[in-house]
Amino acid sequence: MATRIPQEFIDEVTSKTNIVDVLSKYVQLKKAGKNFVGLCPFHEERTPSFTVTEEKQFFHCFSCGRGGNVYKFIMEMESKTFPEAVIEVAKMGNIPIPDSYQTENTNYQNSDSRTLLKMYEETAKLYNHILLKTENGSHALKYLNQRDIDDGLISTFSLGYAPNNSDLLLQFFKDRSISENILRKSGLFAENQEGELFDRFRDRVMVPITDEAGNIVAFSGRILDKNASTAKYMNSPETEIFSKSKVLFNLSNAKKSIRDNQNVILFEGFMDVLSAYKSGVTNGVASMGTSLTDQQLYTLSRLTNQINICYDGDDPGVEATYRALTQLNDERFTYGVISVPDQKDPDEYIRSEGSEKFSGLVKNGVQTPISFILNYFRRHYNLNNEHDQLEFLNQSLQEIVKLSSPVEIDMYVGRVADEMNVSKDSINKELDALRRSNAIKQPAEYKDIQRTALGGSTTTVRSSKFDRIEKSERCLLYWTISFPELKANLKGNNFQFVHENYQRIYESLLAFGDINDNTEMSDFMNGLDNDGKNLLAELEMMQMPDEYTEQEIDDYISNINNSDLESRVSDINQQLKQAAMVGDNKLQLELTKQLIDLRKLLTSN
Ligand code: GTP
Ligand code: MN
Repeated sequence: MATRIPQEFIDEVTSKTNIVDVLSKYVQLKKAGKNFVGLCPFHEERTPSFTVTEEKQFFHCFSCGRGGNVYKFIMEMESKTFPEAVIEVAKMGNIPIPDSYQTENTNYQNSDSRTLLKMYEETAKLYNHILLKTENGSHALKYLNQRDIDDGLISTFSLGYAPNNSDLLLQFFKDRSISENILRKSGLFAENQEGELFDRFRDRVMVPITDEAGNIVAFSGRILDKNASTAKYMNSPETEIFSKSKVLFNLSNAKKSIRDNQNVILFEGFMDVLSAYKSGVTNGVASMGTSLTDQQLYTLSRLTNQINICYDGDDPGVEATYRALTQLNDERFTYGVISVPDQKDPDEYIRSEGSEKFSGLVKNGVQTPISFILNYFRRHYNLNNEHDQLEFLNQSLQEIVKLSSPVEIDMYVGRVADEMNVSKDSINKELDALRRSNAIKQPAEYKDIQRTALGGSTTTVRSSKFDRIEKSERCLLYWTISFPELKANLKGNNFQFVHENYQRIYESLLAFGDINDNTEMSDFMNGLDNDGKNLLAELEMMQMPDEYTEQEIDDYISNINNSDLESRVSDINQQLKQAAMVGDNKLQLELTKQLIDLRKLLTSN
């Protein structure tokens, strides 16, 4: 467990860190006026809403509302706790970290999660032992060896075997006094109709799935029998420690190699990753049968900016590659395709053609996406048929027009011209026409980018969704945070905000004390909960003048104090309308009297 980090160290890190430098590692930031803007890393977007202020050392996304200081960013981005985030930021800035604050295994703060991790580790050991050392595991070992998976690989990947026994693991943990509750949470067991637990994995080769740090968080179990009626692979369910959308198989082993090779290879199957690893291609990962999630892409983007797709060479694999290329448009990466010949999957190819041929393919056989896509189109169309020819040309041009390098464009124009037996000239003319028609479509989008980049106008767009009272609350809170004398004034009058979210920040502010500089502001933010951080960053992003006026403060306060009266006025107005509709004169008179009284109160305030 991490030792508590002293305030002085946090303050030192805060004062030596520039949020722009840290966030630039994750987001491409462009200067826009006083601020920096970029594409929000927390969700998909095409126009930048993610804004960073260097002056205040905050970020805020005008689209999703996330915001905060540099620690909040790292906490969300890397799923870290606050102390871990401080350490991480210190590391990035080469600020020496006292040994006693070094943390370990830190993603799992609650004790259940740590128990689950321990259980998965012990389970992997048990299954590995059964595979290697017991009679029960011998046929599984034979199966693996038939697949050229040797002891070295078994040990590197901690492979195991779950025997065909419904309560071996259950007994194992019951003997260790693991509570029923934890057993259920673990995902290692399933439940029969009577509600009794039994081992989830039976008669399967067990492939442990690890998190980025190498902790085992799940299993995938493969059947041995080709003709079995159940699914080939069975995965652990989602648990406190396992989320399928976050994990990449083999990432912990491959990390260094991904950095060294400056690319990651994305395989379809675990077995492909294993085989590739054995043949010296160690920078491979696989998702768990799904397309890459944002979270996985961000994890990869910290290690490399090149993703090479090496899916199976059969038709489904080729289709999956095409789909992946059209879906993966994350601008932080360039993409490549490694096509496996003879309709084989990488594992089959390695076993039939050998390691060297495969590593050669990986080294020299990386296709550009456009090259793969043109091949793909060609396979889909019958170029002897005129209709198909035009379709092929049309589709190909749509891809070529996206390229920016003139050499590359020329090359692929040449290829398509050859293919179709027409001149390069005529293809280039088509390409020009396409560019012109695309250019007409562009301005709207461009305006959008500019508007967002300027920040100010989006703030106004957004702020218009607040009513007069809430606007008053926002401005008043903003000024109160920046000018301690206002706080004293409000406190003296037992002032209360109407909306709980502002009141909560206000109360935290009273408890915190005065904020005089960015470091203190950052400390204040560190003490708020997640919503509080988002809101504070949002407030601090408002475009406000340097100084407040007494008059506006008075107005805000009376608006807020009168909010109750105001809502009663609007209530009565509603009732009046209804009374008029049904022609109830008596009620109309009564309501009007009430209204007059309320108005008097409002103006006297
Ligand atoms: P082998 O047949 O053992 O060589 O498997 P493979 O590694 O070649 O896997 P395959 O190409 O058949 O499938 C690719 C990936 O899809 C696997 O690694 C799994 O993640 C996933 N997958 C395949 N079959 C199943 C299944 O029956 N259930 C689940 N949940 N996932 C599967
Ligand atoms: Mn396979």
